[in-house]
Amino acid sequence: MTTSGRSSYCAIAWAFVVGLAGVAAVAKETSQVELPPPKEYRIIRTIPEEAQRCISCHATLNGGMVADWAASRHAHANVSCLDCHRAGPADTDKSIGHLEYDKTSITTIVSPKDCSRCHPGEAAQYARSKHANTLELIWKIDPWLNHGMNSDIERQTGCYHCHGSVVTVENGQFDSSTWPNVGVGRINPDGSRGSCSSCHTRHKFSLAEARKPEACGQCHLGPDHPQIEIFNESKHGAIYHAEGDSWNWNAAPGTWTPGVDYRAPTCSVCHMSGVNDVAATHDVTERMAWETQAPLTVRPSQFKPWPAGTNWQEEREKMEKICKACHSENWTRGHFTRFDATIVSYNDNYFKPMKKLIDELYEKKLLDKRKNLDEKLEIEMYELWHHEGRRARFGAAMMAPDYAWWHGFYELKKRCMEIEEQAEKLLDSGKPGKVFEVRAADGDTTKPDFNK
Ligand code: HEC
Ligand code: HEC
Ligand code: HEC
Ligand code: HEC
Ligand code: HEC
Ligand code: HEC
Ligand code: HEC
Ligand code: HEC
Repeated sequence: MTTSGRSSYCAIAWAFVVGLAGVAAVAKETSQVELPPPKEYRIIRTIPEEAQRCISCHATLNGGMVADWAASRHAHANVSCLDCHRAGPADTDKSIGHLEYDKTSITTIVSPKDCSRCHPGEAAQYARSKHANTLELIWKIDPWLNHGMNSDIERQTGCYHCHGSVVTVENGQFDSSTWPNVGVGRINPDGSRGSCSSCHTRHKFSLAEARKPEACGQCHLGPDHPQIEIFNESKHGAIYHAEGDSWNWNAAPGTWTPGVDYRAPTCSVCHMSGVNDVAATHDVTERMAWETQAPLTVRPSQFKPWPAGTNWQEEREKMEKICKACHSENWTRGHFTRFDATIVSYNDNYFKPMKKLIDELYEKKLLDKRKNLDEKLEIEMYELWHHEGRRARFGAAMMAPDYAWWHGFYELKKRCMEIEEQAEKLLDSGKPGKVFEVRAADGDTTKPDFNK
């Protein structure tokens, strides 16, 4: 109040000097400073009246959301709220409460199946990827889940935030333990898997956002899969940080060109974007020659819990073609020769001998096989492959020497000493070690029904 009072006082004093002709202009200028005009959405063109209602009411309720939509390619192409949120006859997540505000029946969830009406190619590739299917996969192999070694709330705020939840709706109300959620492998009420907004957040659904490494780094980070840290450490990451601001992130799909639009690859370039004659893909399992996050590295087609339908030589060739958009044949081959040798060294010098030792302890009943992760040696073995063993492999795959060595092989050497020392004690004494009562190990171990 005081500020605006003073400024209009100033305006009057000024008007005196400038003369009467200036009064109107100055007064206008002052009122602009005090009250910027609200941005207007002029809804014309061919958006149906039904959808115009959504826009005008929600512009007053959640202005930020509608502004995102208005800035999107969708708005430019007349794809409206209704095209995505209108409830279909089979939707079990119809919002009942919303009928109070508007007579058109809507759903909040816009699943990959809904997007597939207009983007069938991306949706089909995504549906066969490990991203979309990760929930089923982790329930097949993960000891935290299967042995109930963490609690439901730990899973909701951790695992399921990245991997996705099984979204449940009862009487039009979301179960807050499963929603909100935009994990990559979310199971939607219509049965489809995943969430396109994992990488393209609503309501901008931006291509540029997904092409930047930050989109992937929200999940691909930390001690067990530090891909964003690895990227930041690499020369590619250094170049991205130095000059990425001036790159052309919005090039139309299929036209984003190395050397023209960007000078160094991001996650998207190597794993998803179309580069020269390598077609773009929404299946991140493509272009992989190894299963480097598994305890023992195998080819993707040999990964028993989820065998990929790919041929590793063909996928390696695709990845090499991407490098060759900017590098010579020799440079590229040199890199992959070293990466493949890293894999062999990890498997043979670290994982296999330690696994053999641990198996011997199980056999001699010096370790208890009933549950995993409640004995110290089990944790040591888990961290050997799940933490430093992955870091060594990923560091070598994606050009990050600090991860390959200091966070990788160096830690592996130390971990093996730790395991050998503890194992020796058990073997010498002939007595089993302590089985710990793991805190909050009361998670629901009922496997979700993935065939529904
Ligand atoms: C007259 C006002 C009004 C109109 C018209 C309207 N809405 Fe809403 N909508 C609301 C209110 C109020 C809420 C609940 C409060 C909130 O979410 O901020 C809501 C909530 C929603 C939600 C979230 C529901 C949830 O449970 O999470 C969606 C999605 C939605 N509206 C979409 C639409 C669509 C699509 C249309 C057009 C068919 C539409 N709305 C028309 C007022 C309106
Ligand atoms: C291209 C599809 C698309 C369009 C167009 C679209 N939405 Fe959405 N909307 C989504 C997705 C995806 C979500 C996130 C829910 C999910 O993860 O399934 C969402 C979420 C919402 C929510 C709940 C989110 C929250 O934070 O509470 C509201 C409300 C909503 N939309 C309203 C609208 C309105 C109003 C419009 C038109 C101005 C609109 N949407 C246009 C796809 C769309
Ligand atoms: C009714 C049809 C329709 C639906 C449904 C739809 N889209 Fe689109 N989408 C389009 C059109 C049209 C374009 C613009 C194509 C162009 O500009 O070349 C587009 C463009 C896009 C783009 C590229 C944006 C850019 O910056 O170039 C993305 C990403 C996208 N959509 C994601 C989604 C997602 C995710 C969903 C579901 C939540 C969805 N779309 C639902 C029609 C649709
Ligand atoms: C910060 C996000 C995030 C959290 C939290 C998280 N994960 Fe993951 N998880 C990932 C990513 C990313 C990968 C892929 C690793 C890779 O390929 O490098 C992954 C991989 C896995 C895998 C290996 C799958 C395979 O194909 O071999 C399992 C199993 C798994 N996670 C289970 C869990 C469980 C159980 C929890 C909770 C106790 C959890 N994750 C918490 C992001 C997360
Ligand atoms: C793992 C992250 C991720 C998820 C999840 C994802 N996208 Fe994308 N999407 C991308 C990236 C990265 C690009 C840019 C590819 C490029 O440069 O050509 C892209 C591009 C697109 C485009 C532009 C056309 C193209 O192929 O380049 C559309 C349309 C699109 N996505 C739709 C979808 C739909 C629909 C879904 C869900 C079924 C989805 N996306 C899920 C990362 C993702
Ligand atoms: C919301 C979390 C999330 C986001 C965002 C995300 N991912 Fe993932 N990603 C995962 C999880 C979880 C897995 C593990 C799937 C499994 O193996 O079960 C994974 C696995 C992968 C894999 C391994 C696939 C395989 O076959 O082993 C690649 C490659 C990958 N992601 C690349 C990307 C890229 C590139 C982006 C960004 C454009 C991205 N991801 C964004 C969660 C995410
Ligand atoms: C210069 C290209 C390049 C860039 C940039 C890049 N990657 Fe990779 N990535 C690779 C290569 C090569 C491999 C090993 C492929 C193989 O199995 O032969 C790999 C492996 C992976 C894996 C392991 C998959 C598995 O299960 O074995 C994940 C996950 C992954 N990358 C995610 C990412 C993410 C997320 C980013 C960005 C933060 C990223 N990558 C940046 C080239 C790249
Ligand atoms: C868009 C262009 C582009 C693509 C695609 C690309 N790179 Fe690079 N890469 C560069 C540039 C530029 C440099 C910096 C060269 C220098 O050191 O002067 C670089 C550096 C490197 C380095 C040197 C790292 C160091 O710290 O010494 C390696 C190794 C490398 N790239 C491997 C690859 C591999 C393998 C691929 C494919 C999986 C790939 N690059 C894809 C542009 C690219």
